[in-house]
Amino acid sequence: MTDKYCVIGNPIAHSKSPDIHAAFAAATGQDIAYERRLAPLDGFADTVRDLVAQGYRGANVTVPFKLEAAALATRLEERARLAGAVNTLRFDGSEIVGDNTDGPGLVADIVRNAGVPLAGKRILLLGAGGAARGVILPFLREKPEAIVIANRTRATADALVAHFADHVAYPGQIAACGFADIAGPFDVVVNATSASLSADLPPVPASAFRAGTLALDMMYGKEPTPFMVFAARHGATVRDGLGMLVEQAAEAFAVWRGVRPDTADVLAYMRAAS
Ligand code: ATR
Repeated sequence: MTDKYCVIGNPIAHSKSPDIHAAFAAATGQDIAYERRLAPLDGFADTVRDLVAQGYRGANVTVPFKLEAAALATRLEERARLAGAVNTLRFDGSEIVGDNTDGPGLVADIVRNAGVPLAGKRILLLGAGGAARGVILPFLREKPEAIVIANRTRATADALVAHFADHVAYPGQIAACGFADIAGPFDVVVNATSASLSADLPPVPASAFRAGTLALDMMYGKEPTPFMVFAARHGATVRDGLGMLVEQAAEAFAVWRGVRPDTADVLAYMRAAS
């Protein structure tokens, strides 16, 4: 019997996840079906209950349901609990297990695909919303020297530092600041603000970058984002969020199937198709 999975969101028509998972299934010889599922804005829990009743084995969760998915799960993996959000559900008997592979996907893209190890590095994380929060624990596991969280609303960045206080290797490994106080340069700069959605540039100073800084925007599109253009102008090597998208899918596939697919071919194909 083919095991069934889907991605739940609203809107969902644009999602590339079915193509990615179909490619992973073909490459690993796993017999799965994976489709898009539009949930009504007030109908996420009912949608999940339907899937469980229909024998689905799991689901990915995307905008705007990641927080609701964390609340609905009967059990949360640690990385999902600390992220406060779930992008991967696994249906296991009566349990709905919530996981979050977004952060591990970003780390895999930086370390494996971009070839930039994070151990001992200084990381600047722009933004302190859900996207930023999800990557902090996976970043800490790579043992960076420092993670500086810069946010427009400083108090939200301070709250994130406090939230992860028990997970730092030493005091000060994570710090918060406003954009005006960013003291660069950094080895890696990640744009986790939603500014690129509205084609805005977060107010990051040029001094955050040096020649060879890896600057990664979690967003992707046909054109480089204003953040990528700005970072490249100041010497950075830039990357968009397509690699993170493919890697978070590979991590979810591994959660469900116990096999982590190779991503290089799929990423190259998605890049050519986008
Ligand atoms: P997400 O789930 O995508 O992280 P979110 O939780 O709404 O979305 O968080 C959006 C983040 O982008 C926040 O850090 C927000 O800053 P504030 O906390 O000050 O609101 C940040 N953000 C959005 N637009 C921005 C802009 N134009 N410049 C800088 N930061 C921006």
